[in-house]
Amino acid sequence: MTITQNTSAPLVVVVGVTGNQGGSVVKALAESDKPYRIRGLTRDVTKPAARELAAGGVETVAVALTSDNAAGAREVFKGADIVFLVTNYWEHLDVNREVAEAKMIIDAAKAAGVKLFIWSGLESIIKVSNGKYPNVHHFNGKGEITEYGRASGIPFVNVQSGWYAINFWKLNGMKPKKVEDGTYVLALPVGPQTLLPVIDTPNDYGLFVREAIESPEFGAGSEVLTSGEDITIGDMISQLSEITGKKIVYSRISDEDFTTATGLPPSVALEVLESLKYHEECGYYAGKTTEASRRHLARPTRTWADFVKSTDWSSVLA
Ligand SMILES: NC(=O)c1ccc[n+]([C@@H]2O[C@H](COP(=O)([O-])OP(=O)(O)OC[C@H]3O[C@@H](n4cnc5c(N)ncnc54)[C@H](OP(=O)(O)O)[C@@H]3O)[C@@H](O)[C@H]2O)c1
Repeated sequence: MTITQNTSAPLVVVVGVTGNQGGSVVKALAESDKPYRIRGLTRDVTKPAARELAAGGVETVAVALTSDNAAGAREVFKGADIVFLVTNYWEHLDVNREVAEAKMIIDAAKAAGVKLFIWSGLESIIKVSNGKYPNVHHFNGKGEITEYGRASGIPFVNVQSGWYAINFWKLNGMKPKKVEDGTYVLALPVGPQTLLPVIDTPNDYGLFVREAIESPEFGAGSEVLTSGEDITIGDMISQLSEITGKKIVYSRISDEDFTTATGLPPSVALEVLESLKYHEECGYYAGKTTEASRRHLARPTRTWADFVKSTDWSSVLA
């Protein structure tokens, strides 16, 4: 890691530094030949991920970014040139809380005079689908936060996150399942032609944040659409099968069967179901392509095949 402590370098404050996206931002900025100071925020500076970052030169600071802690937020943004924000809907499943906390953070960063605010947003699916899919709260809330950030007057960039490659390895209902003859089936309620901007988030998401900071094509007011590779679910499964040597087939199942198979609480299963249907019908990025966002990256991203090759599938394809 080459993170500087020199006060002439811009200070980047990273929310969610111990997580997939925030950690990736640190990795990408440390790879840059431009110097950065990095302040990483976590609720627990003693956790292993925070200790590792501190050992690499990140100033780790403990703060809980909750709506009742605006004073704490203002304090940790003092002196910041750039702020990166990701919110974690899945920790609490409360979209009102996600939106309220993000608004508080944007206000605090603005009060601190931050010059560039980089937000990890998503599309508002309820809006893009004209109300057809109203329950994808982790997208809709982030769409609302994007609107608030843009209207706030703070220099604001939306670096939307693609579909995590690890979803196919970690999430219930998204993993291939073993069937009686010893082969595997990935069963989802959409067609195999459904296209996803798949990204190896810890490795590559931060590259796009670095691009937003360093490339004159981006910056305040812009939008960056992240993706390691835009690939159909059918092609992902064929490649997974070919690379691992396991027979894996794709199967389209009914909405009802998918909902049951996830094993998730009904409201969460509905959210996942609607998001998949939306990706199939409207496109993950509402029909916008990722090509322009990939043009000024400092290094190539990992493809789905690269991710598959670098991942231990033994627990999934047991
Ligand atoms: N899965 C996908 O395909 C996908 C695609 C696009 C977007 N997303 C979005 O990605 C988001 C999750 O990002 P991630 O994967 O980077 O999460 P993650 O790996 O679970 O990390 C969450 C980070 O947020 C920090 N954090 C959470 N609440 C906090 C609070 N109140 N105050 C301070 N820090 C707090 C955590 O810090 P500590 O725990 O260290 O305190 C941690 O560093 C979700 O909102 C999801 O909707 C996911």
